[in-house]
Amino acid sequence: MPEQPNADASTTAAGQVEQNPYGGASAGGGPKRVRTRHFQNAKREGIKITGLTSYDQLTARIFDEAGIDFLLVGDSAGNNVLGYDTTLPVTVDDLIPLARAVAGAVKRAFVVADMPFGSYENGPEEALHTAVRFMKETGAHAVKLEGGERSREQIHRIVQAGIPVMAHIGFTPQSEHGLGGHLIQGRGEGLAQLIADALAVQEAGAFAVVLEMVPADAARQVTERLDIPTISVGAGPHTDGQLLVWTDWAGLTTGRIPKFVKQYADLAGILSGAAREWVSDVAAGTYPGPEHSYE
Ligand code: KIV
Repeated sequence: MPEQPNADASTTAAGQVEQNPYGGASAGGGPKRVRTRHFQNAKREGIKITGLTSYDQLTARIFDEAGIDFLLVGDSAGNNVLGYDTTLPVTVDDLIPLARAVAGAVKRAFVVADMPFGSYENGPEEALHTAVRFMKETGAHAVKLEGGERSREQIHRIVQAGIPVMAHIGFTPQSEHGLGGHLIQGRGEGLAQLIADALAVQEAGAFAVVLEMVPADAARQVTERLDIPTISVGAGPHTDGQLLVWTDWAGLTTGRIPKFVKQYADLAGILSGAAREWVSDVAAGTYPGPEHSYE
């Protein structure tokens, strides 16, 4: 992400702008603290934005120090933390402690709290109430909600109150039953609706929009039409940024992995191997050794 010649740029005694102390996508020298304007600048300058989900302070700290630009405390916590099959049962009260843990752990990354199903559909005032809870009770920097044209008024009301909104269109998991399953959106005649949704959330004031499971060429067309950055989750390479669910990306998820996920580690294999080794050490009496015991 591009540096700003202003308050976020820390200047050394020699008058040089300090490089971002972290690596990752911003290794060229990004902001000390990512803010919404850096998303805008990244789009303008063609610098790719990176995001991962995070639901706890340990992963948040690791991802932050690695230079991930934003962390989404997603309602995918339903599948990855809380043991549900879908995101539908997740509540605001479920997500608030997770968002607080993530926001409290980061120094640089921008933290987005997801508004769960049932916390904004009733209208703009309900949406604002939920967004205010996230901002006051967690320290997150923005909220995300699903829906294009249908969420326009909610987005507008939250933004009016000074809270940044990341929109989410294409496949929206909270509507999985209405959409008829995990289906790619924006194909054929669906492209017109995708573009209408994208323009609606931009007009309503969203600072960025997630495009989930849409064809790469549709995502390219949306990205070219918008002034705000687009973030792909299974929407191909032509967007302004990329986002993945961290448990899929790190190989901790053992179930079905979507085609668009590239696994960068095998955490399930590592943890399973460690657990088996420990069981066998305890059985053999080789753990604990003298070095793990008190005199
Ligand atoms: O909850 C989540 O992780 C999400 C992403 C898949 C966009 O909404």
